[in-house]
Amino acid sequence: MKFFVDTAEIDAIAELNDLGMVDGVTTNPSLIKKSGRDIIEVTREICAMVDGPVSAEVTATDAETMIAEGRKLVEIAGNIAVKVPLTWDGLKACKVLSDDGHMVNVTLCFSANQALLAAKAGATFISPFIGRLDDINLDGMELIEDIRTIYDNYGFETQILAASIRSVNHILDSARIGADVITAPPSVIKAMVNHPLTDKGLDAFLADIKAAGIKIL
Ligand code: G3P
Repeated sequence: MKFFVDTAEIDAIAELNDLGMVDGVTTNPSLIKKSGRDIIEVTREICAMVDGPVSAEVTATDAETMIAEGRKLVEIAGNIAVKVPLTWDGLKACKVLSDDGHMVNVTLCFSANQALLAAKAGATFISPFIGRLDDINLDGMELIEDIRTIYDNYGFETQILAASIRSVNHILDSARIGADVITAPPSVIKAMVNHPLTDKGLDAFLADIKAAGIKIL
């Protein structure tokens, strides 16, 4: 499973990237706003740091302008994936940009039928939003399962990029189902390391190290 980091914060990406935990990065207008940075400038910095795909989202809602924006975004670096919303115009832009040989991430996916359309339009990635479905008392994981089944039934190569990840269980469940990629905030990825028995076990070892005066260096 690939790990993408869902942030436009350079320092947070760098910390995880140094550990080999970053297979790509996703951004969106809200994350760019949060960073307080210029979209082109910050995206260029991220692309220079990370080898894998870096999603940068268009701002337009009509296909023609989305395509023009996408063509500008891909000039930033060779690892840009143009992010378009799952609208009819977004699908048109996806088809044109993917036919041109660019990576396209179709975002704001909330149904398996939408995911099927994105695959037909040549999307490189489909981004189902797990957390936002859970927010309205629906089952985000059921959507990931449905998309996995449908893509496997027909051999679609579009990668399932589980997004709107809010918890470590979202990551675990996505891995169990076989999502190709998860994108999560750095805090959620880092929280995967936590286990109370690890802390308890380490406390006991540290007490014995102290009691026995064990030294290595
Ligand atoms: O990757 C999409 C993600 O940024 C949305 O997450 O938590 O705003 O629903 P959230």
